Amino acid sequence: MPRLCSGLSGQMIRPSALNAAKLRAQDVTIHYWIERSATPFCAVDGASLEIRPGEFVSIVGPSGCGKTTFLNAVDGLQPISGGALELNGTPIQHPGRDRAMVFQQASLLPWRTVLGNVVYGLELQGDTSRRERTERAQEFIRLVGLNGFEDAFPTELSGGMQQRVNLARALATDPEMLLLDEPFAALDAQTREFMQRELLRIWGATRKTALFITHDIKEAVYLADRVVVFTKRPGRVKANVLIDLPRPRELSIKRDARFLEYEDEIWSSIEEEVRDGVAAPAVTSRFEPFVPAN
Ligand SMILES: Nc1ncnc2c1ncn2[C@@H]1O[C@H](COP(=O)(O)OP(=O)(O)OP(=O)(O)O)[C@@H](O)[C@H]1O
Ligand SMILES: [Mg+2]
Repeated sequence: MPRLCSGLSGQMIRPSALNAAKLRAQDVTIHYWIERSATPFCAVDGASLEIRPGEFVSIVGPSGCGKTTFLNAVDGLQPISGGALELNGTPIQHPGRDRAMVFQQASLLPWRTVLGNVVYGLELQGDTSRRERTERAQEFIRLVGLNGFEDAFPTELSGGMQQRVNLARALATDPEMLLLDEPFAALDAQTREFMQRELLRIWGATRKTALFITHDIKEAVYLADRVVVFTKRPGRVKANVLIDLPRPRELSIKRDARFLEYEDEIWSSIEEEVRDGVAAPAVTSRFEPFVPAN
């Protein structure tokens, strides 16, 4: 497919010169083909990013800027039309067992129990015995705090519990990279905060390389080693903000002065993108919602 968009590279800050990158995106361009007009549509244009093994990276950016498109390309679900996208130095061409995705909505099989759902990913891999699968699934059900609910069906679980099952299913397959696209967006505010803390606890125990998309700047900062800001569409990397906050992190760190500075910096970067454009900011922050005068 022709490269229709001008290709500006995102600013790169190498997080570490010592470790080889787990994921490397260099000038990645992604187009959709629009059937009704028979034209390509550029969603991502020249995105460059490196993620080192075990790093937790959050991506934020204006709505429609290409975050999900980029994540789908990392998962191998979406072909790229320019640049290079590599996992461990090998071009990503299709989905693989080295990556696992957690979507916004819990995507559980309603006719399977919690255990049946977590076992499912392992069944697809097909190289474990039934006993091994069950043991492994139970281990991750415990890790996400759902022991006692192995025989429950998805309809009997709250939204937060369903997302825990999704997380357990993804982790049980032992991926090298965990890809999360707004996994907590459908949850109420308290459950969401609780799940953020739980995710950090689980990530601390597994240390998977993680790429996490969110509209919530606080969530992005709280979780990540680094927050990547995308430009408006066609998306590319505008800024890398290294989050130098100690771990383990309590939720109370969100009131820390340095935390608020990071939040401010990221908010300003996104706001700059949407100030003159038509795209909605699609982010939540510590600022009060805008209320019209009349
Ligand atoms: N299947 C598709 N076919 C054509 N265009 C698409 C398709 N999926 C997404 N797009 C377009 O690509 C652009 C990027 O979409 P994408 O879903 O990646 O954005 P996003 O940054 O994840 O947005 P949001 O924050 O709202 O989730 C948008 O303009 C969208 O309309
Ligand atoms: Mg999206």
